[in-house]
Amino acid sequence: MLAVLLLAAGAAVAAQQAAYAVFDAPLVNVSLFVMSRCPDARICETVFEEVFKLDHMMDKVNLNIDYLGHIDKKAPYGVECMHGDLECAGNAHQLCLQAHVPLDKFYPTLSCMNYANFPGAIGTIALTHKCAHTAGIDWWRSGVGACIEGKRAERVSRLAEREAWLTGTEVELPLVLSEEEMDEWADADALEPLAKEAQKRLVQSVRHTIKEGVTKSCTIRIASTLKHSPRECVVDGGVWKGCDDGHSPADFARVIRAEWANLHK
Ligand SMILES: *[C@@H]1O[C@H](CO)[C@@H](O)[C@H](O)[C@H]1NC(C)=O
Repeated sequence: MLAVLLLAAGAAVAAQQAAYAVFDAPLVNVSLFVMSRCPDARICETVFEEVFKLDHMMDKVNLNIDYLGHIDKKAPYGVECMHGDLECAGNAHQLCLQAHVPLDKFYPTLSCMNYANFPGAIGTIALTHKCAHTAGIDWWRSGVGACIEGKRAERVSRLAEREAWLTGTEVELPLVLSEEEMDEWADADALEPLAKEAQKRLVQSVRHTIKEGVTKSCTIRIASTLKHSPRECVVDGGVWKGCDDGHSPADFARVIRAEWANLHK
């Protein structure tokens, strides 16, 4: 009996290792350093939206987006952001998405947040929720909801769902706001609560950006095994700087393909 169990366990471990081997295939590290309500960040993110539409690009990249700010224990979310607390919230929401959903769900959500009347309602839960839903993310099941709104909010919501199911009534859907209503809400700058996990991710990300010595949003870094230093590029005031390899989606794709090929030769 024990032997059978051990055998089964061994098979399970082997299967898991095989699965990890696939994920462990080296990917090209691409880092964007941004601020969620910064127009220059939007330029970088829009270029990468095009990069990721190209053949198999998503499978070759390990994308990390980190945020610029100053650590400030007295700030509502523990960080001071250039475009205000709403931006801090937007950064934190995007970090929760990155942490809990795969790239092919995260990126469409990010693009959706950037798409509206920029910076519009970026940083409001209403917009993040709407965009996540549009990208096919289950708010609670993915872990994104708890990261942003907390476990308590999740329990309340699940209880309401269960209650509705038991009594055969309709679940009361969260109020769906129009784009204009969301923008107005953002303008009012009423701070929404941000759960512990989201705040922790925000502080960690800002610390990482400081440690990396990045001071401009947007900064793009592509880790290189072909060159001695990372390939770095900045968009500052709408102007691209330092992109030795070009800054069109095709240029970034070419660089990523070359780096990927070098990791897999
Ligand atoms: C990518 O980044 C991770 C984490 O920093 C690191 O462990 C890994 O070696 C990097 N891979 C490449 C190919 O640069």
